[in-house]
Amino acid sequence: IDQAPFASEPHLNFSEPKPRTAFARAVKQHRSQTPREYPLFIDGQWIKTKKKLPSINPARPDEVVGQVYQAGKREVEKAFAAAQAALPVWRDTPFSKRAEILFKAADLARQKRLELAALQISEVGKAWAQADGDVTEAIDFLDYYAREAMRLGRGHGLVSPPGEKNTYFYQPRGIAVVIAPWNFPLAISMGMTSAALAAGNPVLYKPARDSQVVGAGLAEIFDQAGLPPGVLAYLPGPGSTVGRQMVDDPRTSLIAFTGSKEVGIEISQRAAQIQPGQRHMKKVIAELGGKNAIIVDSDADLDEAVAGICASAFGYQGQKCSACSRVLVLEENYKRFIDRLIPAAQSWVMGDPADPATDIGPMVDQAAQKKVLSYIELGKKEANLLWQSTPPKKGFYAPMAIFDQVPPESRLATEEIFGPVLSILKVKDMDEALFLALDVDYALTGGIYSRSPNNIERAIREFRVGNLYINRGVTGSMVGRQPFGGFALSGIGSKSGGPDYLIQFLEPRCVTENT
Ligand code: NAD
Ligand code: ALA
Repeated sequence: IDQAPFASEPHLNFSEPKPRTAFARAVKQHRSQTPREYPLFIDGQWIKTKKKLPSINPARPDEVVGQVYQAGKREVEKAFAAAQAALPVWRDTPFSKRAEILFKAADLARQKRLELAALQISEVGKAWAQADGDVTEAIDFLDYYAREAMRLGRGHGLVSPPGEKNTYFYQPRGIAVVIAPWNFPLAISMGMTSAALAAGNPVLYKPARDSQVVGAGLAEIFDQAGLPPGVLAYLPGPGSTVGRQMVDDPRTSLIAFTGSKEVGIEISQRAAQIQPGQRHMKKVIAELGGKNAIIVDSDADLDEAVAGICASAFGYQGQKCSACSRVLVLEENYKRFIDRLIPAAQSWVMGDPADPATDIGPMVDQAAQKKVLSYIELGKKEANLLWQSTPPKKGFYAPMAIFDQVPPESRLATEEIFGPVLSILKVKDMDEALFLALDVDYALTGGIYSRSPNNIERAIREFRVGNLYINRGVTGSMVGRQPFGGFALSGIGSKSGGPDYLIQFLEPRCVTENT
């Protein structure tokens, strides 16, 4: 078993010919394949149902990426029965054995990393480096939580006076339901699933509609890694039926959810209802949205600020919970900042993510495209449109847009848009910047570009978000380096990829023996 300290999986360097050629081949190969069918995975079996749905390429909506069989009530019931049967054995499997399966899954993902990343380009429209980053993050979660399982498996020492032996150790909570978003389709699904499995909880996993093929890849990896039957189910299906059934079932002990604020709140409320036959409280781990701000101080290095803000606002089309959607610029720097921001944004190349020259691709689906277009129309009424790009006509593309004169209380400045729409607000001083930065429902990421030690110190103290970044962009947290997650209505502060995460999937027990 791997005893080396955790180290991140290196990203591919596409400026080198070898990885570039290999990845171009993988993308091409993926696109030329006849779309596969993806059955459900229940009790160690791949199962076809009566209904299947196509998953389509958002850059080329007439291209089918795969056909995915859909779960219904019966399949969810079957998965619960299998998970319940598997629970005693999986619960009593040593932490080290469970860690071994995670390490094996990490190796399998490493072997298939090009294929897994190429699939994301077609299914969710990620540009090359973004797709590679998602796969490496998934590998990191496996490697990190495997080590965390071994650490927590050792329990804790307690004071044991003569004649008394005290021990403290952890047990799994029970059946875990994992409900995932599409925007980090492998990484977030893998993070929640692997943490639940490492802790000894059987998992019912439901991917989001837009990334069901990537979700099947997760189930394939665990199947090949040797997970016993019943310990993992892959259940693609609608949130409003399959998701609700999974949340409501009295056999559910734990719900790990990442997604929107609205759905997260609904899940918390439903999970609080004790169902007939239920003899436990359900634990909810919910990671939700953001409306993240970056402050640009009057002495900020504008070259750094402009590059970091563009990457944070427009990377993966702004479809990151961590994305920057508000910039609070101190008035002394305002004009200089705008004069540099607009040409920098204009240099971003919008196109098909299969092309390595593409910086920004399509929105994930038509609903997301319509949502961004409607916010741009709203922005034209609420604020001043400084610039918008002209996107390709075919595919679910939406323009990049930058607004200024945005009223702080407007919908543009307070609601999560989840697209490449950036609001610039002029502020007179750091007091106003810090006040506005936190004057939203969310507290996920935040950033400050400043050369002033006092203002940086102040931001560390007062800019109370889950992940604060100083003089860098606010996206791209790394497992083990920037444990990720927010407060307020951004989530319960569980910090994925950090030392406090796995423990939430466990219950501590204390045993005292009179010796
Ligand atoms: P979403 O809330 O629409 O869906 C998330 C998942 O919930 C999907 O699998 C969906 O099918 C399911 N679902 C929908 N309704 C449900 C219901 N009533 N009961 C049970 N399950 C239900 O979110 P999305 O569009 O997939 O993802 C984007 C959102 O996720 C954004 O708000 C983003 O900020 C957030 N997000 C947060 C983090 C984080 O770590 N904080 C990370 C990524 C994404
Ligand atoms: N962990 C992801 C990021 O930091 C959401 O961008």
